[in-house]
Amino acid sequence: MRTTVLLDPRMGASLLRLFFHDCFGCDASVLLDDTATFNGEKNAGPNANSLRGFEVIDTIKAEVELQCPGTVSCADILALAARDGVALVSVVATSLYLLCSYTDNFACLGGPSWRVPLGRRDATTASQSAANSNLPSPASNLSQLIAAFAAKGLNARDMTALSGAHTIGQARCVSFRSHIYNDANVDAGFASQRQRNCPSSGGDNNLAPLDVQTPNTFDNTYFRNLIALRELFNNGTQDALVQQYSTNAGAFAADFAAAMVRMGNISPLTGSSGEIRSDCRRLRQTLLPLLPRGYFKWAAVACTIVRQTMRTTGLLDPRMGASLLRLFFHDCFGCDASVLLDDTATFNGEKNAGPNANSLRGFEVIDTIKAEVELQCPGTVSCADILALAARDGVALVSVVATSLYLLCSYTDNFACVLDRGD
Ligand code: HEM
Repeated sequence: MRTTVLLDPRMGASLLRLFFHDCFGCDASVLLDDTATFNGEKNAGPNANSLRGFEVIDTIKAEVELQCPGTVSCADILALAARDGVALVSVVATSLYLLCSYTDNFACLGGPSWRVPLGRRDATTASQSAANSNLPSPASNLSQLIAAFAAKGLNARDMTALSGAHTIGQARCVSFRSHIYNDANVDAGFASQRQRNCPSSGGDNNLAPLDVQTPNTFDNTYFRNLIALRELFNNGTQDALVQQYSTNAGAFAADFAAAMVRMGNISPLTGSSGEIRSDCRRLRQTLLPLLPRGYFKWAAVACTIVRQTMRTTGLLDPRMGASLLRLFFHDCFGCDASVLLDDTATFNGEKNAGPNANSLRGFEVIDTIKAEVELQCPGTVSCADILALAARDGVALVSVVATSLYLLCSYTDNFACVLDRGD
């Protein structure tokens, strides 16, 4: 989250909202991609063309899977990312970022922080229609908003405190157009300022900050704006609380943190309900038969070794990504590592077949990786799987030629070790 928020300060806001949209359930259902046979929530009205940050969760999940495969749910990762996004959101200067590595109690850095109760499991299903009907709309009036939160066990005070999330982030013109053209209780100067970048028709995706003054700082300005009628989603009741938050940043921060914990506790899946996904975008698939128990734990270790070796290899010999890709192809009319076998006096392998002789490259890279993998987990991970991973990582790394990009790659790296088959 540190790297992410430095590169894209809005991402703190986007992950906070992603968590909210998941959290009328808190089960990572919002992270599932649609497939030909599965209709997830990403294309529900409040989410389509609007939710952001899925690839950040993918990157975190891939790293977490390397350390402890099949253990930490996507739902818990999203809860933690939302919390850290809020805490880090105003940390935009490198100096502060560095300071942050040392002082690291988050509280001093930006928004409030809170303890995230963990142990959620991931949904095995999703509901686009529930997302459409349960999530509040920007056209909702106050009683509809209160009712939507009450239906999830949150009271009006929670709702008002949580709305303070709009102290960060951006909204699309299509979300607030009707307010700046039609509402009588919006400051006229503010409305015409917004209208300049949000015409009465067209420009639907033009962005504007939800907090006019400090969109990248988690503070109580949202409430001060509400009072000055410079906000987009005001309705004029809950006044006493809005007044209090507008003058008492500490009260807002404390209520917001407490309400985030309550929101994060909405109907989590625990015990044996749900599952722990290995890829947040997809449901686990059924166990492949005949694989030894724990195979995917060791495959994850192999995956790291492949990635590290491929980084060095690609830097030393940029063509190697191409060569390993082809080696995999020539193995893969079978995908069984038969192409890697050397000829012997009594065995005629494939290396000297017409399309392969004097042409295939990269055998020694696979040898190096296999030797490392054998040191960690002898006799467990097949050469065929190693070759498949090396071909994938070679492709992902092939354009990484500059050292700076190489370093960046350590952080962005979401091509990394997501194991696709479940274990
Ligand atoms: C009270 C009911 C709420 C309504 C009607 C509402 C509505 C909206 C709308 C329409 C947007 C702009 C989306 C777009 O144009 O793409 C937005 C953005 C946002 N919302 Fe809410 N929201 C509500 C509650 C919340 C809550 C409870 C949270 C989190 C605790 C939250 C966090 C955010 C954030 C951080 C953004 C900016 C996201 C970004 O920049 O990517 N909202 N909200």
